[in-house]
Amino acid sequence: MLMLINKIIVSVVKLLPKSVVFFFAKRYIAGERLQDAVNLVKELNKKGIFATMDVLGESITTKEEVILAKTECLAVLNTIKQNELQSNLSIKPTQLGLNIDLDFAYNQIREIVVKAKEYGNFVRIDMEDSSCTDKTITVFKRLREEFDNVGIVLQSYLKRTHADVVDLNKINTNYRLCKGIYIEPAEIAFKDRQSVRDSYVRCLEQMMKDKVYVGIATHDDYLVNAALKLKKDLDVADNLMEFQMLLGVKEDLRDKIVKEGHKVRIYVPFGKDWYKYSIRRLKENPNVAGQMFANLFKFGK
Ligand code: FDA
Repeated sequence: MLMLINKIIVSVVKLLPKSVVFFFAKRYIAGERLQDAVNLVKELNKKGIFATMDVLGESITTKEEVILAKTECLAVLNTIKQNELQSNLSIKPTQLGLNIDLDFAYNQIREIVVKAKEYGNFVRIDMEDSSCTDKTITVFKRLREEFDNVGIVLQSYLKRTHADVVDLNKINTNYRLCKGIYIEPAEIAFKDRQSVRDSYVRCLEQMMKDKVYVGIATHDDYLVNAALKLKKDLDVADNLMEFQMLLGVKEDLRDKIVKEGHKVRIYVPFGKDWYKYSIRRLKENPNVAGQMFANLFKFGK
């Protein structure tokens, strides 16, 4: 019932004017300008929190737009360097041409990874919907042959993911592990909450046993506790893991984890293309829409 209500809310939110959507979306986004993200990251860094900056945008269909997006990513790396920010860069493969041509996308991403390497920085390749999984892993593996400053994201809701972990551990992959936010068919994805969690814990355990680096990306207390238990049971070194969270989500949990002495990195998206990101979050994570809908009443008061 709740899911149905949430889905209706999502449909309604999609009809709202952009300004109203922005009112709700702004907590998830640093702003439209790079400087907005820089200011926010500086504030996070002051609290001992790391960041990963992301230029909003995805599913680009022309090479000209891809090159513009790549230029923006390079500018972010320059800005991180100039401002001495504690931040790396997250990129979306379809923003860099994955759906246009695999070699073209590889070359764009490689250029970004080369620049990051020059600066002693790191590039995280986000994972998009399942039509991108194989292509993204292919690009990552090619980059990994040459670079150690690039990592990938895996999604525990996909049934294939544990096998991917076993395979990618062989090349000492640096991961972000998340649940996954896209709507995927039941043939390939776990659908109920606990199965997604169980898969997450199974994948995380495999990563920790094989002593590869993992960014534990979740706001789910159950998974945070499971990760801390695994860390203790498997005696995982502090320098092999960090927690990662989205900007504007569960800051109380974030602060608690920081206070306990764990490394935390916040995903800081910015840019003019905030609308699609916001709508996508609502559409693909109806629980978020529920929370925004609750806020709508507060807003109306
Ligand atoms: P869950 O959705 O169960 O959330 C746990 C609790 O957190 C909720 O009950 C709620 O209280 C709160 N919460 C979660 N999201 C919220 C929101 N937006 N607003 C308010 N409260 C919220 N996915 C993907 O497919 N590819 C990717 O590359 C990435 N990258 C990524 C980076 C980072 C740093 C994070 C944290 C997440 C991603 N994700 C992602 C998204 C991820 O797959 C997942 O959809 C969300 O993190 C939500 O899953 P949780 O594990 O937080 O659990």
